[in-house]
Amino acid sequence: MNKIPVAILGATGLVGQRFITLLKDHPWFEIAELAASDNSVGKRYGDAAKWQLPVEIPEHLKEMELLPSDPVRVHAPLVFSALPTDIAGYLEVEFAKRGAIVSSNASPHRMDPDVPLLIPEVNHEHLGLVEVQKKKYDSDGYIMCNGNCTTIHLVLALAPLHKRFGLKKVLVTSMQALSGAGYPGVASLDIIDNVVPYIGGEEDKVETEPLKFLGTYADGALRHADIRISAHCNRVATRDGHLETVSVEFADKPSTGDIIAAFDEFRGLPQELELPLAPAHPTVYRREKDRPQVKLDRDAEKGMATIIGRLRECNVLDYKFALLGHNTLRGAAGATVLNAELLYAKGMLKEHEAKMPIRERNR
Ligand SMILES: NC(=O)c1ccc[n+]([C@@H]2O[C@H](COP(=O)([O-])OP(=O)(O)OC[C@H]3O[C@@H](n4cnc5c(N)ncnc54)[C@H](OP(=O)(O)O)[C@@H]3O)[C@@H](O)[C@H]2O)c1
Repeated sequence: MNKIPVAILGATGLVGQRFITLLKDHPWFEIAELAASDNSVGKRYGDAAKWQLPVEIPEHLKEMELLPSDPVRVHAPLVFSALPTDIAGYLEVEFAKRGAIVSSNASPHRMDPDVPLLIPEVNHEHLGLVEVQKKKYDSDGYIMCNGNCTTIHLVLALAPLHKRFGLKKVLVTSMQALSGAGYPGVASLDIIDNVVPYIGGEEDKVETEPLKFLGTYADGALRHADIRISAHCNRVATRDGHLETVSVEFADKPSTGDIIAAFDEFRGLPQELELPLAPAHPTVYRREKDRPQVKLDRDAEKGMATIIGRLRECNVLDYKFALLGHNTLRGAAGATVLNAELLYAKGMLKEHEAKMPIRERNR
């Protein structure tokens, strides 16, 4: 079987590095092109990337020459974007107009009314929105996004509850790892011996994106969920893994047993389709009184699940609990790849299987 050639934009960054490790032996996708900033263009990937992961860069990718993040130079039909926010908005549209499918980590298009903001276990039917974009761009290309790294894990925990019992209000406080700020991220003297109670733009994303994820899709349009969310986002000195403490109020208050059953039983299309990156259990409820913990639980289910624990009554809303998720895996690159796997399994990449081999075209 021919694999689908893919490009990685922002390939040298922290999310880009996760793409490399997730895609190097992928059964359906093959890394054909790597792109980064003008500072890196023309360099070997192995020389340009400040590698941060405890596994080696695959030998053939070490040698790959970095391209500019330019749709005229990057030809792969499927593009994974880990571009910085300030340039992703414009560039991703250019890629889509030239016929590429852009699976993006970046935030500028997440809330566009015609862009699916996807968690395949939660809202795969929102993919219907891509038809609106194809018409708009008069192209086979389109953009689909994964959410903010804190939001994705919050939504994975909220989705089974909202589906069964209806959510009305959510209060969430996050303790977010340093890798969430990219490389080199927060200056060491700003974060050692410190917690910073501010992450630019983060609280707005955590308060609004879940409403789109949990919204309903019909006749080519989305209706956002009617839930009030208030978020406090903090940067802490952990390396990977965002911990969040959450209080929730329901339309129809369930028992703690009902809630734990909803977490235990939650499954979705990725599990049904056995997508390569799908965790067996997208939400894992830990019964110990002191879990989840960042160091112990962030890599559970290969970093692709949301780990939940400490469910108890809340004196202000109905219940409270803690959750943890890996920010650069399920919170970033893993989410982007899972979204593309969904396209593949739904037959939405069929015409791209024929477009091989791309490497020859780009030499
Ligand atoms: N880190 C996370 O947990 C996380 C989670 C969810 C979403 N995201 C989003 O994912 C994106 C990437 O984040 P990151 O953490 O990987 O950031 P990062 O470590 O700072 O990496 C940024 C990447 O973008 C490239 N780049 C910088 N300026 C560019 C330009 N003008 N043109 C083209 N490429 C350029 C860099 O290339 P050079 O090496 O050549 O500079 C590098 O490859 C951001 O939009 C971020 O908000 C991150």
